[in-house]
Amino acid sequence: MDILKGLPKPFFVLAPMDDVTDTVFRQVVAESAAPDLFFTEFANVDGLMSPGRPKLLKKLQFVPNETRLVAQLWGLKPENFKAIASQIADGSMARELGLPEGCNFVGVDLNMGCPAKSEVQNGACSALIKRENRQLADDIIEATREGLAGRLPLSVKTRLGFSEIDMSWFEFLLGKRLDMLTVHARTRKEMSKVPAHWEYFGKVSELRAQLAPETLLVGNGDILTKEQGRELADQYGLDGIMIGRGIFHDPLVFAAESSRGSYTPEQKIALYTKHVKLFTDTWKEGERPVYTLNKFCKTYINGFDGAKELREQMMAANSTAELIEILTASTVAAR
Ligand SMILES: Cc1cc2nc3c(=O)[nH]c(=O)nc-3n(C[C@H](O)[C@H](O)[C@H](O)COP(=O)(O)O)c2cc1C
Repeated sequence: MDILKGLPKPFFVLAPMDDVTDTVFRQVVAESAAPDLFFTEFANVDGLMSPGRPKLLKKLQFVPNETRLVAQLWGLKPENFKAIASQIADGSMARELGLPEGCNFVGVDLNMGCPAKSEVQNGACSALIKRENRQLADDIIEATREGLAGRLPLSVKTRLGFSEIDMSWFEFLLGKRLDMLTVHARTRKEMSKVPAHWEYFGKVSELRAQLAPETLLVGNGDILTKEQGRELADQYGLDGIMIGRGIFHDPLVFAAESSRGSYTPEQKIALYTKHVKLFTDTWKEGERPVYTLNKFCKTYINGFDGAKELREQMMAANSTAELIEILTASTVAAR
């Protein structure tokens, strides 16, 4: 079943964020206030097709009750995209990850937007937006499509351009019969340093109507509430809204009604405790170092006297056991 066809309008998506949206955080979000769709962190197909595969599987790890999860891939070699897409579509990747029969990803997304130097200098991710790399972008899309063989939807997540806003990129992408296209409204050059250019969605949306009315269009960049996302989706005729860093400001950002400020410090500490415990139970072999949890500290530990000092203490913790100890003591402080 193509899950994308049954989504509400607008639908809301938790953005893929490396070292953030692992299965642990996705489960915490899903249990608190779930979006309509989740993405994995980006997983490198070239690495997955190399002897380094076992170490990279953590990027795709999920649990059976994650039933709305799109696998995001990046890399350089079309043949590796084809192979991994095929393993995802036939369920063998999910079996390798330990999932029972019947549990699988609901789609495959291609990362054509990551701005990081290490990826871009090799010609991957946002470098695929450059005109001189268009043939490679085309080969990657076609190879992935071949691998999927119609078994799962195919989508792309990208930016408005590489150095400059480039509508030819969207003419190209919208000619590729994608099931979904997510656009982070900045160029690669802008990284995340300027406000997102939502005004360009007028043009992208117009191109979508002309060239690919069947492709779902998702807007992304600086959205902090569902209300704000709904307004922009309405204004620009978008099907979906993706929220990334907004989740750091409000772990309940996907709740039905705006919940900002409705969470007490104690509730937030309890949520972080749950997060850390699940992290401990999930990444037993040290697959993810404890410092990766630091990104979440401010999300949960705020809004009471002594929160700043507590965060500093937590950032210095060397183990999850130490974190739990601090969290247990802090419940008292937050009262
Ligand atoms: C820590 C972090 C990691 C990210 N990792 C990815 C990634 O793996 N794949 C991807 O497509 N985008 C990634 N992004 C970009 C986000 O998905 C999103 O496009 C960007 O943050 C803008 O949306 P926002 O303003 O709602 O955060 C990452 C962003 C952040 C902050």
